Amino acid sequence: MTDGDFARIQKYAMEHTGISLSGQKKEMIYSRLAKRIRLLKLEDFSTYCDLLSDHSEQEISNFVNAITTNLTSFFREEHHFEFLKETVVRDLKEWHQTDGKVRVWSAGCSTGEEPYSIAIALSEAMLNGAQWDIKVLATDLDTCVLKHGSDGVYDVERLEDVPERRVRRFFRHGRKENSNKVYVKDCVRNMISFKQLNLMKDWPMRGKFDVIFCRNVVIYFDKPTQRILFDRYANALRSGGYLFIGHSENLNGVSDRFESLGRTIYRKGLD
Ligand SMILES: C[S@@+](CC[C@H](N)C(=O)[O-])C[C@H]1O[C@@H](n2cnc3c(N)ncnc32)[C@H](O)[C@@H]1O
Repeated sequence: MTDGDFARIQKYAMEHTGISLSGQKKEMIYSRLAKRIRLLKLEDFSTYCDLLSDHSEQEISNFVNAITTNLTSFFREEHHFEFLKETVVRDLKEWHQTDGKVRVWSAGCSTGEEPYSIAIALSEAMLNGAQWDIKVLATDLDTCVLKHGSDGVYDVERLEDVPERRVRRFFRHGRKENSNKVYVKDCVRNMISFKQLNLMKDWPMRGKFDVIFCRNVVIYFDKPTQRILFDRYANALRSGGYLFIGHSENLNGVSDRFESLGRTIYRKGLD
């Protein structure tokens, strides 16, 4: 991969995902795309770049799937879920006393552990469940991870750190050849809609969210892209709505439309 090839790849990554690839990522990108090149039996990176520049829809989708980093886990950053249950739920109950409609968005949901954790935490905390219509929109750009998320099937080791009572209530163990698998129960799966959405493009959703999770996604974006994105999140949140971001992220110099509540939790100012 020549410097010229890498520069083209950086440009396509920015164009199609908003991901800003620094020079340090060259090795990683090399190994991920080399697999595509071998599979397609192409001669070199330059031919691969030509294919992307010809707007091959199929390959752009594979390219996007190859360059995204999808690391996630159930109840990652546990304090966010504790806060959701202890503090946010009080507001949700007040805001939706009459209509019962709670709307949460997991933006950059990867393989689904995050939206499932949100749905489980809310199920545990919202008493009198039947009166609430809780919906979690789970979106990602990467079609492979979305498929995994909507299937709701995980290796049993993924639940190693989840307390047994939670596992029993919300998951079902596979049998026979699937005994190393766990299946998310329908009571949780039915609360979530998985949809492909590129955060850099139009958002078709109408109506405001009560809570947005966008964790460990914007670390891959540059500051100008982050400014635009968080402004759009502020527009998509109800007044006083909550925003959760990743442990190494912050909104300093990015947005002044949120008040920090500490530990990467923010609240949109009251309109
Ligand atoms: C590291 S994962 C974070 C998963 C989860 N939010 C968490 O914190 O555990 C980042 C996710 O952001 C997604 N992503 C990256 N760029 C995106 C974009 N432009 N639009 C939507 N999703 C994007 C990636 O596909 C990836 O699944």
